[in-house]
Amino acid sequence: MLKRTHTCGALRAADTAKQVRLCGWVHRRRDHGGLIFIDLRDRWGLTQVVFNPAAGGELHGRAKDLRSEFCIAVEGTVQKRPAGTDNPKIPTGEIEVAAAGIELFNASATPPFEIAGDAEVSEELRYTYRYLDLRRPELRDRLLLRHKVLKVIRKVLDGEEFTELETPVLTKSTPEGARDYLVPSRLNHGSFFALPQSPQLYKQLLMVAGFDRYYQIARCFRDEDLRADRQPEFTQLDIEMSFTDEETIFALIEKIFTAIWKEALGKELAVPFPRLTYAECMRRFGCDKPDLRYGMELTDLTRSFDGTGFERFRDAIAKGSVIRGLVAPGAGGMTGKQVDGLTELAKQSGALGLVTIRVTEKELVCPVAKHLGEETMKRIVSDSKAKVGDLILLVADSPDRAGLILSGLRGHLAQVLNLIPEGKFAFAWVTDFPLFKWNAETKRWDSEHHPFTAPKQEDQGSLESDPGKVLSRSYDLALNGVELGSGSIRIHDRQMQEAIFRVLGLPEQEVKDRFGFLLDAFRYGAPPHGGIAPGVDRLIALITNASSIREVIAFPKTQKAVDLMVGAPSEASPNQLKELGINIKK
Ligand code: AMO
Repeated sequence: MLKRTHTCGALRAADTAKQVRLCGWVHRRRDHGGLIFIDLRDRWGLTQVVFNPAAGGELHGRAKDLRSEFCIAVEGTVQKRPAGTDNPKIPTGEIEVAAAGIELFNASATPPFEIAGDAEVSEELRYTYRYLDLRRPELRDRLLLRHKVLKVIRKVLDGEEFTELETPVLTKSTPEGARDYLVPSRLNHGSFFALPQSPQLYKQLLMVAGFDRYYQIARCFRDEDLRADRQPEFTQLDIEMSFTDEETIFALIEKIFTAIWKEALGKELAVPFPRLTYAECMRRFGCDKPDLRYGMELTDLTRSFDGTGFERFRDAIAKGSVIRGLVAPGAGGMTGKQVDGLTELAKQSGALGLVTIRVTEKELVCPVAKHLGEETMKRIVSDSKAKVGDLILLVADSPDRAGLILSGLRGHLAQVLNLIPEGKFAFAWVTDFPLFKWNAETKRWDSEHHPFTAPKQEDQGSLESDPGKVLSRSYDLALNGVELGSGSIRIHDRQMQEAIFRVLGLPEQEVKDRFGFLLDAFRYGAPPHGGIAPGVDRLIALITNASSIREVIAFPKTQKAVDLMVGAPSEASPNQLKELGINIKK
């Protein structure tokens, strides 16, 4: 009989004396001379099984041969553990199963790493044997939680009359700012499908089609440089609605997230989420995904340097730079080496240098004190509201770059100074983004979000005359300093969409080739619409405090975009290439 009576997480004291059969893997085995204990593990948990020599020599002998990760069934009687041997850490900790029989389904070779232990294992080994890695309770629990979260999302959206629809994976390039993954077409040599960077245009076309409320747990593909929070294929909760506005979309997302927190995590979440404009974010935090779990906001200290004798800063200000600062509370006691580390970090994000001032009881300690002079330093302390024991960090640069540098330092310092409250989740809506950003390399305007985002009504007049001034109806959702999602109210008017393409410098023919179908669709009564797409992997990683989204994806790619387990990507056979009409130049 392959079936079981219970899972390994089910038995409690009330089940004492029941005859049971459990199936699973040998998690741990302890041989106490006479008694042999195994922890039997399945997806639901662990149950202790005890083999008593008194139950029979043959069975005991077979128990002796069990090793880690053998897949077995055990039959026996549930009994209460002897007094004092309970394990309150696991739900089955009050009982054990006194074994009367074992069935061996499959022995296991010695695994390349221990499943039960928590020793550091190289990522290479973990990804090569991902099916073993996933047996580890920590990873398993993350994926089980992921399932729960998706279930809640579906429930809420179903309740709001959203329709779950699938969109193609073999499609055409969608401009989300990354490189495309291309798939050659056997039937059309020289032509390629692009895998979608997001379902953006399809979801808009579903609005034109009249579906009104769409969502999809959508796989997206982007060939970009990978980081801890980026994978070449990842999942979005993709949402689009018709006849809507920002308020409706914010309220919907807040409803989804409160339900996730309540039903999947058992926690309350405060709504509405705070809102900040892009300009305010850049001013207070130096970035557009503020971490609101702690303070340490940036200050503009340019005026504190009025009349300064410090040439480096004086020249920088004369050339249009600003001086921005950060006060690290209680960091005045950092060692020289630690402060050098901060300078190094600042340089990595493009700083020419970093000036620090330690505020001590007796004096202000600064490597360039001589140049700054006592008076300026005192003004800096008072303008930045630094207190005794603090460390002031100063950067002279363009407002954006100084912000970027200090925002990196702010995140780093919050960690080393332990300023981040454990278990806190701080959401924030960021609104009023510029519609375009200037690309100094290509000398062209790029979309800040994507080209389908509507400009603010009041800025529409400046669209072609002063694109840099135009604000958009896009919004981002930040969580704990991570960009969790973004979206916008879209353009549904053909002329407006064409104007945007003109500002982006797209030639008419290219617009026709790439987006002709969208412009065409707008001719047939396209409804006003908008949407959003939170990243599912990032959400689960934040909830489970995982170091990377790879920890919440069943089969992730490595930093080099490789699947080590199956060995992908791999070479195609000469036959396949011939059929596709592709010649590989070595
Ligand atoms: P955007 O490109 O901002 O918007 O993506 C939305 C969210 O998707 C997640 N994300 C990623 N997660 C993991 N790995 C990646 N490489 C990756 N890239 C993005 C992030 C991000 O916030 N179509 C628009 C949405 C819309 O306008 O409705 C879009 O894709 O969490």
